[in-house]
Amino acid sequence: MSKLVQQIDRRQARVAVIGIGYVGLPLAVEIARAGYPTVGIDVDENKVRAVNQGKSYIGDVPAEDVAELVRAGRLKATTDYRQCKQCEIINICVPTPFTATKDPDVSYIVEAGKQVAANLKPGQLIILRSTTYPETTEKVLLPILEQTGLKVGRDFFLSFAPERIDPGNKKWTIRTTPVVIGGVTRKCTELSCRFYEKIVDQVVPVSSPRVAEMSKLLENIFRSVNIALVNELARMCDRMGNIDVWEVINAAATKPFGYMPFYPGPGIGGHCILIDPYYLAWKAREYDFHSNFIELAAETNEAMPFFVVDRILEVLGINGVPARNARILIIGAAFKRDVDDTRHSPAIKVMELLLDKVRRIEYVDPYVPEIEIAGRKFRAQKLTPALLRAADCVVILTDHTCLDYNLILRESRLIVDTRNAIKHRRVKKLYTLGYRVKG
Ligand SMILES: NC(=O)c1ccc[n+]([C@@H]2O[C@H](COP(=O)([O-])OP(=O)(O)OC[C@H]3O[C@@H](n4cnc5c(N)ncnc54)[C@H](O)[C@@H]3O)[C@@H](O)[C@H]2O)c1
Repeated sequence: MSKLVQQIDRRQARVAVIGIGYVGLPLAVEIARAGYPTVGIDVDENKVRAVNQGKSYIGDVPAEDVAELVRAGRLKATTDYRQCKQCEIINICVPTPFTATKDPDVSYIVEAGKQVAANLKPGQLIILRSTTYPETTEKVLLPILEQTGLKVGRDFFLSFAPERIDPGNKKWTIRTTPVVIGGVTRKCTELSCRFYEKIVDQVVPVSSPRVAEMSKLLENIFRSVNIALVNELARMCDRMGNIDVWEVINAAATKPFGYMPFYPGPGIGGHCILIDPYYLAWKAREYDFHSNFIELAAETNEAMPFFVVDRILEVLGINGVPARNARILIIGAAFKRDVDDTRHSPAIKVMELLLDKVRRIEYVDPYVPEIEIAGRKFRAQKLTPALLRAADCVVILTDHTCLDYNLILRESRLIVDTRNAIKHRRVKKLYTLGYRVKG
């Protein structure tokens, strides 16, 4: 039995998590909870300080959990990459954004890889967890690590294990969600599985990092394509009139097999569903392959904020409110329900598009105290009857469960609801996306 196997089994392996954001912090906490001495490494000093003070900046991670693990000496954080040298296992959870022209930006993986290489020692296991295009592990990260002269599968071990965390999801957690793992060699897969078996309920070994990379993209593209389909259906129902897309979806969802409901909305956002499809479309072009499904889904979903803005302006017009004089109250700025993440939020896109068309925009979001749009700062307002009454139109863009939708329905003068947060129908002042009363 190798030394690393023993260290894993005895929970003596020291573990680093590089990048302690939405993915890395919950992971570091779970690894520490499983008994491994864990260090989070991040370039952001605020996050490092927060962890060391026993605080949490991620909604799903209770501060008490961080505090308890830090107190017990099982979890700490640092900006110093030299800590990698003290560790046997290194997880990389850095961002994988896209550029302004929507090409993949793997520079964070490259940077983390260089730092890991500078501290690489024989026997270490490196696991990349950031979502990325197929072959990143073998063609981007591996060459950086092998430049040290150490050889994968012999001197060190490298795998790709995509993170599947769903922030805000109370049912499926890091522990209960299976982890797919593809190592560069069989030994790499075996060691990675051996470690992750201690952290999560189920591991799913696959034959290569490429399969694991592609499987993660398939999962997210599956969502993007299906959301695009229902967004198209919502616009169709809106055009046809008298067919309620939400009723249609709920009816279809009663089929016990072969169907899974997805819901329309003002667009998609966050760090995954919007970005990841572009990673694969970009990679496919290298092989003269154009992924029509991916591009069409992206086009459909990205048209939604524009559609919603047109609808708001139309609703104002129908009700005799000149858009130029209108005061708009936005409900929800986060990209989805019950989270504080505003990255690529369609709500922010809608607000940006409305900025020069209406007189005043305000927003309510208990999770998001402040946002910046086109260089202007906005502070979240408290949901009150007076605030609702003062708005010419209230637009629901994110349906946080903690908000009082009865109050919104009662006090608002006009409502555009893009999430079907208000279940009522045939209320004159209410305009639900995908349901238009004709005649
Ligand atoms: N957020 C999600 O729900 C989710 C789910 C599954 C997968 N992912 C994937 O996980 C990866 C990370 O996403 P995230 O949402 O946690 O991002 P994030 O921005 O919340 O966290 C990334 C962290 O990495 C740090 N960082 C950046 N460069 C660094 C470097 N060179 N060295 C050390 N730290 C560095 C940042 O300061 C930040 O704290 C991405 O590839 C994303 O696609 C995210």
